[in-house]
Amino acid sequence: MSAPTDVSPSLISTLPGLSYTDPALFGREQEKIFEARWIAAARSADLDGPGAFRTLDVGRENVILVRGRDGQLRAFLNVCRHRGARVCMEPSGVARRNLQCGYHAWTYGLDGKLVAAPNLTKMPDVDRTEYGLVPVPLREWLGYAWVCVADEPPSFDATVIGAVTERLGGAGVIERWDIENLEVGRRISYDVRANWKLIVENFMECYHCATIHPELTEVLPEFADGFAAQYFVGHGAAFADEAEGFTVDGSAGVSVIPGVVDGHDRKYYAITVNPQVFINLVPDHVIFHRMYPAGPDRTVVECDWLYLPEVVRSGRDLDSSVELFHRVNQQDFDACERCQLAASSKAYAQGGVLVPSEHHIGAFHSWVTEQLAT
Ligand code: FES
Ligand code: FE
Repeated sequence: MSAPTDVSPSLISTLPGLSYTDPALFGREQEKIFEARWIAAARSADLDGPGAFRTLDVGRENVILVRGRDGQLRAFLNVCRHRGARVCMEPSGVARRNLQCGYHAWTYGLDGKLVAAPNLTKMPDVDRTEYGLVPVPLREWLGYAWVCVADEPPSFDATVIGAVTERLGGAGVIERWDIENLEVGRRISYDVRANWKLIVENFMECYHCATIHPELTEVLPEFADGFAAQYFVGHGAAFADEAEGFTVDGSAGVSVIPGVVDGHDRKYYAITVNPQVFINLVPDHVIFHRMYPAGPDRTVVECDWLYLPEVVRSGRDLDSSVELFHRVNQQDFDACERCQLAASSKAYAQGGVLVPSEHHIGAFHSWVTEQLAT
């Protein structure tokens, strides 16, 4: 059997199958994309006191986020300046006073400065001020800490805030949801056996909605037509007349976020911030996805459901609210895993095709190709 070659010229080709399986290409994406862009690393409020820390992989680097005694969040490469051991081995925790390397006990303050090392006084040539942890630029926005490990980070305003503003059709719109001051009502982590690009591609189109999302298309009937939520800039998908809220059974949701007023109050918006954030906005909550590639065929997706603080603290049952998008996530990730299983087939060696309503995927492929070419 030979690979199909007689594809209609009016249809755009996808990336070839190898793009989803090749370890060398994955390494290049880590370098050119994940180490070059701003990455949403953690919900700031999760690091809730002095010494609270998290570690995470950003491309091929490992980064420590830690809250200082001054309340400031900082990020550092998780590498001891002595002989290069990883300083923090745990994914999260609370450092009592300092960060201490477990090899020879070099000790760093929460601000990254080298504060102590055994026998340091007998080694006058070691300049303590020069051997602190290497700082990583950090910005806080929408209640998340974003980091960039590039030597020269791109403009945060242009590449992150600008992407959201452009998608919503204007400055100041995202602020209506006051995401920074919402609280996590539920967090679910998904270990998806699929390449990160399959997850982005899936999020960008709604051609699949009629096939795999019965609950979502009940609430958002226009999704059954297959047009993407991102089809028009600033276009929100209207709730079905009979849906009282964005819930798995169409029942009423919880308290609406006060800034979400007429024109937005019965709509759903979806935004992608390349390369790893998806944001869904509905009147009473925000669904915030962060993707962390763990290999060519594996991606961890952390999904936060954010509500008004008083809703979370009331202990109110959020199940019908959370369940709708939890099912959507499971349905989407199952679909991505199906694609991953077939990506190495010779039938997909040249890739497939995109129908017109998937044109965002074509734009995403161009973006990936451009990043890799730099
Ligand atoms: Fe960290 Fe020696 S490698 S103290
Ligand atoms: Fe979907």
